[in-house]
Amino acid sequence: MILLDGKKTSQELKEEIAAEVTAMRQQGQKVPHLAAVIVGNDGASLTYVSSKVRSCEQVGFESTLVRLPEDTTQEDLLKEVAALNANEAIDGYIVQLPLPAHLDEEEVLLAIDPKKDVDGFHPTNFGRMALELESFIPATPFGIMQLLERYKVDTSGKHAVVIGRSHIVGRPISILLSQKGDFANATVTVAHSRTKDLKALLNQADIIVSALGVPNFVKADMVKPGAVVIDVGITRVEDASRPKGYRIVGDVDFEQVAEKASYITPVPGGVGPMTIAMLLKNTLLARRRAQS
Ligand code: GUN
Repeated sequence: MILLDGKKTSQELKEEIAAEVTAMRQQGQKVPHLAAVIVGNDGASLTYVSSKVRSCEQVGFESTLVRLPEDTTQEDLLKEVAALNANEAIDGYIVQLPLPAHLDEEEVLLAIDPKKDVDGFHPTNFGRMALELESFIPATPFGIMQLLERYKVDTSGKHAVVIGRSHIVGRPISILLSQKGDFANATVTVAHSRTKDLKALLNQADIIVSALGVPNFVKADMVKPGAVVIDVGITRVEDASRPKGYRIVGDVDFEQVAEKASYITPVPGGVGPMTIAMLLKNTLLARRRAQS
């Protein structure tokens, strides 16, 4: 079994990005600037956003954190989005999801300038990605594709089963894995809550991508020997023995499944750290595209 080490790979990616930023600085070019908007005080969202901003500093980007109160109106949030669209200093930005229930997420995502949409959530980017045109690929599926590429995992003609059809992970990764190209060209099945006999289906899979959000759901008896297993789950589970009072648990029962898999991502330290590295990569791309 080979561990798909997202911690190490994301570190390498960040070093590559940092070297590019240093070169940009030396050539007197503007360095990438990422902004993140967060509405309210959700603990997990604040942790993710702080980590994104900290990563910007690590690679030499500029970053701006826009914190808005829980009771922000739709109108005020749309004004903030319009200001970020107009601000030439900002190359890319994200609006952290989920938004508080009173806000209309879809309207906000549609208001983001697709050229600055480094999350790749705007329909223009999603459509362009599906058509294999220049776009921003959402960070989590982009990170999975990078792991497959960097570890030279053979995906061509393999049967990939993706568990989950979310707009952020399941749907886009199913499109990317089936596209033409190296480390793609897979035959993809998308499984979801209405799928019949998921266990039998998973047993036919050469590649499993689990984006379900149910801790330890994928057991050894669901996995074919030699399968590639990508775990996108990051569920917080209460654990009094941990300093923070919780631990992060993936969708895959790692100890059981690792014995059967050819390649497997751990949680934590697999797909999670790749996601932030790919957001940085998208921000660098946004800067390069704005420049050319
Ligand atoms: N919430 C959970 N994941 C993400 C992400 O990748 N981007 C944004 N904007 N919000 C999220």
